[in-house]
Amino acid sequence: MCGIVGVVSAKGKDIVGDLLTGLKRLEYRGYDSAGIAVITNSGAIDTRKAKGKISCLEEKLKAEPAKSNIGIAHTRWATHGEPNEINAHPQFSELVAVVHNGIIENYAALKAELADRYVFKSQTDTEVITAVITVNLKEGMSPKAAVSSALKRLKGAFAIEVLFADHPDFLICARKGAPLAIGHGKGEMYVGSDSLALCPFTNKITYLEDGDWAIITKDKAEIFTADDKPVTRKITTSTTDKNSVNKGFFDHYMQKEIFEQPKVITDTFANFKKAVKGLPSDLKSVSRISIIACGTSYHAGLIAKYWLEDLARVPTDVDFASEFRYRSPVIADDTLAILISQSGETADTLAALRYFKEQKVKTLAIVNVTESTIAREADFMINTLAGPEIAVASTKAFTSQLILLAALTLKMARERDAISAQKAEEIEQKIADLPKVMQDFLSTSGYIKEIAKDKVLGAQSALFIGRGTSYPIALEGALKLKEISYIHAEGYAAGEMKHGPIALVDNGLPIIVIAPFDKYFEKTLSNMQETMARGGEVIFISSAKGVETKVVKDFAKAVITMPEIDDFLSPLLYALPLQLLAYNTSLLRGFDMDQPRNLAKSVTVE
Ligand code: G6P
Repeated sequence: MCGIVGVVSAKGKDIVGDLLTGLKRLEYRGYDSAGIAVITNSGAIDTRKAKGKISCLEEKLKAEPAKSNIGIAHTRWATHGEPNEINAHPQFSELVAVVHNGIIENYAALKAELADRYVFKSQTDTEVITAVITVNLKEGMSPKAAVSSALKRLKGAFAIEVLFADHPDFLICARKGAPLAIGHGKGEMYVGSDSLALCPFTNKITYLEDGDWAIITKDKAEIFTADDKPVTRKITTSTTDKNSVNKGFFDHYMQKEIFEQPKVITDTFANFKKAVKGLPSDLKSVSRISIIACGTSYHAGLIAKYWLEDLARVPTDVDFASEFRYRSPVIADDTLAILISQSGETADTLAALRYFKEQKVKTLAIVNVTESTIAREADFMINTLAGPEIAVASTKAFTSQLILLAALTLKMARERDAISAQKAEEIEQKIADLPKVMQDFLSTSGYIKEIAKDKVLGAQSALFIGRGTSYPIALEGALKLKEISYIHAEGYAAGEMKHGPIALVDNGLPIIVIAPFDKYFEKTLSNMQETMARGGEVIFISSAKGVETKVVKDFAKAVITMPEIDDFLSPLLYALPLQLLAYNTSLLRGFDMDQPRNLAKSVTVE
């Protein structure tokens, strides 16, 4: 989703290159246009904007260079108004330029109010920020007063930066509901949506608290609370390593991230033991667990429900954050709320966290980005050690979340005497062995590209089915395929096929059957046969025992043979072939799977 960068440097320096460097670090968030604004020597706002990739913006800058010691920049993921140059940020007047991540909910009312004092050019909600500040300045307010007064009029979520034509020595930034970080350099200061944007320049970062705003000069940040009181926020040393964001020997980030899974699983499991202090001490008294998440993180939550209820015997609910926050959930006493989020910034998940906190419910965040808002605001936090996940479609963050949830399940099961210590140790040993099993599978998985080519590439639609924890894996497999290959795909509980989706099955529809050789195997096999009888072409995923079953050997159009694995851990392993199927299908269709159309990595608006 939208990304923000800002740089303030000494007179005579040129920061346009830095703005582009920062923007490129934010590409992973997803965007459809980009732009910059600087102040010229003669004190004018100078902008360049382009629809499409940052490379299009670079082309424009090559044709018509810009130069300045101060500037702001933006990648836009369109919400109000189509992606085009006029709607791209910065939104500017002769006095100010503004970049914005978020949504101004009362933009229509503000626009109507200002219509006779400001000429609106775009369809964006953002332009009302530009308008309010411009009108304030024209009424004689100082930049500081003009922004402070504007902030109090804005409803919704925002992280903004404001540049003033008459003041080439500072910019003002603010956040409410959307993240914003300040980077401290030597004689140079930076602002960015996250530490990844800032890591090429500095690892000394100040995270603004919700409602904060700040005046940034080349030497310092003067920070104020929402009610304009000066405040000091600490400077932390970010662990984000600028070298960690590269493709290495791989062609794409998604491919690299799929192959990193054995390592990140190992690291995350090892970290769980250290991170135990990040857990509530009284897990035994938890009466119910409420898991809230979005997208792929939600699928990790669904799998955890099976685990927590089966092994630890704790009743567990799982909700989409966007649904949870607007219904009236009944929350039992001694509920533990678990918020799962790779980015730690997803707007709906953050809202759910705040709702739980208002209700005095204990909150545990499972996040990948430890400096994120969700990580900082939850009562307890354990982090996955997936490292930066750059591809929009989540892979390694998903399996890292699963390993943490598996470890948490075992800990709760033990504390609640739901399983014996010996059984828990046996599973822990299997978790310790899992990275090698994953590695072995990945290193012989090249043939999945052929299956993608022969069986999925030409399809208009695909169905993924499974039972037990393979049902959320089916949902995740379908999500991966639609996200990056744009083929319509549905994940279904295999037993539900007869209640509707089987009507869709006709000749040639690929049915991806996820069937570990577990207690559900026979049932899933029956559901598979029902689809084959109607022309479905089955891609069967199981261990050797499963794929050697006569009916599979005789009728499946393709098989993916998985290593033997303990039933409990199968979702971690069976996620891999589905990730590879989606990756290869996207590759063969010639798409940029790292930055799929219309999608954002960090969804900071609801
Ligand atoms: C977006 C991303 C998904 C992610 C979801 C939830 O849709 O594209 O990959 O699963 O947001 O994000 P979170 O950061 O909260 O896990």
